[in-house]
Amino acid sequence: YTTLQLTTQDAIATVTVNRPDKLNALNGMVIDELGQAIAALERDPAVRGVILTGAGPKAFVAGADISELASQSPLEGKARSLAGQAVFRRFEALRKPVIAAVNGFCLGGGCELAMACHLRIASDTARFGQPEVKLGIGPGYGGTVRLPRLVGRGRALELLLTGEMIDAAEAWRIGLVNRVVPADRLLPEATALLGKMLATGPLAVAAVLEAVDAGFEMPQAEALLLEANHFG
Ligand code: COA
Repeated sequence: YTTLQLTTQDAIATVTVNRPDKLNALNGMVIDELGQAIAALERDPAVRGVILTGAGPKAFVAGADISELASQSPLEGKARSLAGQAVFRRFEALRKPVIAAVNGFCLGGGCELAMACHLRIASDTARFGQPEVKLGIGPGYGGTVRLPRLVGRGRALELLLTGEMIDAAEAWRIGLVNRVVPADRLLPEATALLGKMLATGPLAVAAVLEAVDAGFEMPQAEALLLEANHFG
């Protein structure tokens, strides 16, 4: 990978978006490589959970790469948006838990990427926002769907329509993030939380992720059968 770092330890893969000089902004190559990485993690049986973070102390991901946005035609913009949506959907649809460890600016497409992960842990220095309207565009990577689901329609519309940023404490208060921790505890806390999930029944974890994603009630017998098969 050119724009990502990928490491695996104790069944946990850590994917780091690695363009710190551009605040890890999502250019076409980052999106492509995120797609490649998620495909590889999906089929790797040695990987049971994923942490997604950004390189450097300043940003998780500060949004789509504005320099690329500026030069694209409407048709290219639409194609880029659809391609990104498909990649983000693969994170959400992964049957292994994915935690976004949000280490700084989490804006636009970055916030949308974090919302496509199953859980979000933020450092106390993180800042969140959907500033697209300030650029005269809309959130093209699923934010119009996932933000209302997470924080409710009224709060989502306030963020989406003003483009204003909120800090980590406010993000926690409205339910955008699961936890806020000191910056130097971010990766250890994300690893510990994922470790708790990985200590449970892996097939049950996959089945719960699928049920929550599809929004169906899970027949308990199925869960028991899955576990019985696994542990038996
Ligand atoms: N796309 C491309 N480059 C970006 C970027 C983005 N979304 N966000 C930051 N960068 C680049 C800056 O251009 C700068 O590059 P340079 O040093 O080559 O000039 C570098 O990252 C550092 O950013 P800078 O703006 O100098 O940092 P700051 O601390 O003054 O401000 C932000 C931080 C996040 C407030 C500011 O960078 C910003 O508003 N970024 C755009 C956020 C945005 O609108 N995202 C949504 C896009 S749809």
